[in-house]
Amino acid sequence: MTSALLLLQVLLLGEAVTAFPFPFSKKSVKVATPTFANTPDDTIILEVVGQLNTTVHNKDQCAGCQDWLAIGKNLAQQRPELVPLALTKWCLENGQGSPYTCQLNYGLNTVNGSSTGSNVADMLSGIDAYGYDGQLYCHYRGNGKCKKPATPSVSVSDMWPAKLPQHMVAPEPSWNDTFNVLHFSDFHIELDYTVGGEANCTTTTMCCGSHSANKSPRPQGSHYSGRWDSFYDSFYDANMSFVKGANVVPSFQDSDIWSPATSFGNYQCDAPELLVNSSLSSAIRYAHNHSLDVEFTLFTGDMIAHDESKYISLESTKESEQFIFRDMKTALGNIPVYAALGNHDSYPYGALAPEGSGFENRMAWNADLMSEIWQDYNWLNASEAQYAKTHYTGFSVETAHGLKVISLNSNAWLNQNYYAFLNASQPDNFGQFKFLIDELVASEANNQRVWIISHIPPATGGLPIPSNVFAEIVERFSPSTIAAIFFGHTHEDQFEVMYAGSGKDPKTIENVVNSAWIMQSITPFVGYNPSWRYYEVDRKTFSVMDAHNFYAELDKTYDNNGEEPEWKYEYSSRHGYNITWPETSPLNATYWHLVAEKINSSADARQAYGNYRRRFSPYSPNCHAKNSCTQDYCFVSTFTIDEYDDCIAALPKNK
Ligand SMILES: *[C@@H]1O[C@H](CO)[C@@H](O)[C@H](O)[C@H]1NC(C)=O
Ligand SMILES: *[C@@H]1O[C@H](CO)[C@@H](O)[C@H](O)[C@H]1NC(C)=O
Ligand SMILES: *[C@@H]1O[C@H](CO)[C@@H](O)[C@H](O)[C@H]1NC(C)=O
Ligand SMILES: *[C@@H]1O[C@H](CO)[C@@H](O)[C@H](O)[C@H]1NC(C)=O
Ligand SMILES: *[C@@H]1O[C@H](CO)[C@@H](O)[C@H](O)[C@H]1NC(C)=O
Ligand SMILES: *[C@@H]1O[C@H](CO)[C@@H](O)[C@H](O)[C@H]1NC(C)=O
Ligand SMILES: *[C@@H]1O[C@H](CO)[C@@H](O)[C@H](O)[C@H]1NC(C)=O
Ligand SMILES: *[C@@H]1O[C@H](CO)[C@@H](O)[C@H](O)[C@H]1NC(C)=O
Ligand SMILES: *[C@@H]1O[C@H](CO)[C@@H](O)[C@H](O)[C@H]1NC(C)=O
Ligand SMILES: *[C@@H]1O[C@H](CO)[C@@H](O)[C@H](O)[C@H]1NC(C)=O
Ligand SMILES: *[C@@H]1O[C@H](CO)[C@@H](O)[C@H](O)[C@H]1NC(C)=O
Ligand SMILES: *[C@@H]1O[C@H](CO)[C@@H](O)[C@H](O)[C@H]1NC(C)=O
Repeated sequence: MTSALLLLQVLLLGEAVTAFPFPFSKKSVKVATPTFANTPDDTIILEVVGQLNTTVHNKDQCAGCQDWLAIGKNLAQQRPELVPLALTKWCLENGQGSPYTCQLNYGLNTVNGSSTGSNVADMLSGIDAYGYDGQLYCHYRGNGKCKKPATPSVSVSDMWPAKLPQHMVAPEPSWNDTFNVLHFSDFHIELDYTVGGEANCTTTTMCCGSHSANKSPRPQGSHYSGRWDSFYDSFYDANMSFVKGANVVPSFQDSDIWSPATSFGNYQCDAPELLVNSSLSSAIRYAHNHSLDVEFTLFTGDMIAHDESKYISLESTKESEQFIFRDMKTALGNIPVYAALGNHDSYPYGALAPEGSGFENRMAWNADLMSEIWQDYNWLNASEAQYAKTHYTGFSVETAHGLKVISLNSNAWLNQNYYAFLNASQPDNFGQFKFLIDELVASEANNQRVWIISHIPPATGGLPIPSNVFAEIVERFSPSTIAAIFFGHTHEDQFEVMYAGSGKDPKTIENVVNSAWIMQSITPFVGYNPSWRYYEVDRKTFSVMDAHNFYAELDKTYDNNGEEPEWKYEYSSRHGYNITWPETSPLNATYWHLVAEKINSSADARQAYGNYRRRFSPYSPNCHAKNSCTQDYCFVSTFTIDEYDDCIAALPKNK
């Protein structure tokens, strides 16, 4: 049930994906593009459905998918409002999915359910069906109907001055003078988490909601009789103090529930707000008790639950975002939070359109809401908030001690974002890379160091070109200017090392360029212990000297009579892999290269990494078993999606 595959589907695909069951052959057929002037709507729809029908019979699946795009484009350019109707009808009549899936993929988007038909129409109107755009779409969103096309070579090197010799090395830290930064990621608040609800559900992937159910009825007369006892309606008050609520056992004892959801969460479910608050409250209490000097907090995205789209509305999306930031503000007080939005933090899932495309107004509500909250909470000042409002919630801030933090919206490179397939051979459709480069050039000129935060590591769900462009930028401004990079998204405690030449040069210590921290989740979905961390950061160089990870063993809260989870010290990144590394050196890319090498060569190191990835949950892998954890080295030693794909393809069993 908690297979990596399921998680990947949920995280990377996010939704049921369009299915195009075309048979296979080679020839590409161009389609007729009729003009629809003065034709009644019903006739147009029939004609288009008839045309789309022919693509289903194309023996060349890739050509059929591209024809499908071209037919859709012809309609989208003339009568965009008919696209959802025609596509939904075609989908239903051709058995391309259940009525629900057809509605979800192609139906009109309303505030009540996040169907993506309007976004598909937007995309179709501008797509180069038979070019790179179309092949990319048919690969990533068309269930692999086209092979992954060769990635065109692009460069943005004309956007910066030549790199000077003094920028080839990073400044040495002062090491004995540090401050702290808290980091949280992937809360995924489950708004309708129901204590006593079904945690062993079969109708949806994520359980514990008011609609979660198990299709198999319990044997006649048998009710839940396990020893779990944490069924309390508890909460954290306005001071983030725990208040144990009423026992709610009677609500499920006479029901068909197989595994009743307990107060603080379950491995099959997203985070109840109680768990969100518990994590925040434990972090801030720890910081006070240990006199940490927390200057700011990072949040690397994903607030909305992994619920089925029919249960996600515009309102619940906004509410999830408002709750998460309110809870962070309440717990953290004057400590500012610098946030990056995730692929789930939009409506519909993953949608983000480039400025100037004419479609960006569909997502303006989100940037408006985020910039308002972040300014209200004093996390951004007026000009930073204004920038976030008009640039996909991205921003650049200077912290109290002079570090620059740049936040980017990674939906710009998400391979599930329909708008990212438009002009896909261009390096910077969203203009975010120009922003990043301009900020880096300015910082470099001032010897200022920079942290970059975003949600999706490009090698995990990114499109190839933006992934390569991001790597090119990172290489140019490392190691002197970019001091650290932080992502979330995978729910796992991971890292990535970047080598010069993005995979073309050997992965040696001389070729190490930079590395990224991938922050583990608060949500236990699927099979994780919730976890947060804090960094020790050198005050002079803003290099990270150490990361201290804390976790709660979630299953211990099932039968502890509703008490708070115990948030325990898990491990420190400096000591967690037994690497010999000077006390005075930061945990920079060279350090992570040594860890990666060890992961490549030692099953013990892979096991440590596997335990950390899942925070010692019952679902941690056994890396000593045959053929397990074999992909870990590819993950930790690649930075772009092409590099990662090539590395996986070269593994012995894939050759
Ligand atoms: C499209 O194909 C489906 C399935 O074969 C069929 O039921 C439907 O009538 C066709 N529609 C048109 C307009 O050709
Ligand atoms: C959305 O749901 C609400 C409440 O169920 C209903 O009143 C409203 O008509 C629905 N709106 C749309 C556009 O379906
Ligand atoms: C750190 O070490 C340097 C050099 O040894 C010293 O000058 C400085 O005062 C120390 N700073 C702190 C905070 O201990
Ligand atoms: C979480 O904390 C916020 C802020 O104190 C509070 O408004 C909310 O009710 C809390 N929810 C729970 C379930 O603890
Ligand atoms: C929160 O703390 C303040 C100051 O200690 C106190 O006055 C207030 O009553 C507390 N609120 C709650 C809900 O406990
Ligand atoms: C979960 O439900 C399935 C039936 O769908 C049942 O076979 C299984 O034993 C249940 N597991 C638990 C832990 O209740
Ligand atoms: C903080 O200190 C208080 C009082 O000593 C203690 O009860 C609590 O468990 C500590 N909390 C953490 C998170 O360290
Ligand atoms: C794609 O490029 C064309 C030509 O430069 C431009 O008109 C169009 O707005 C672009 N589309 C998007 C979505 O950026
Ligand atoms: C916001 O802060 C930046 C530095 O991060 C500063 O340059 C800018 O002037 C400030 N804007 C306002 C409106 O205070
Ligand atoms: C990492 O730090 C060590 C020691 O300060 C230094 O020798 C090495 O060059 C650094 N690595 C990078 C990639 O900057
Ligand atoms: C990784 O390990 C394999 C053998 O297990 C070895 O052939 C390869 O050279 C190693 N790669 C690196 C970059 O160390
Ligand atoms: C580090 O050393 C300890 C103690 O010898 C050992 O238990 C642990 O497995 C080692 N970890 C790794 C990653 O090698």
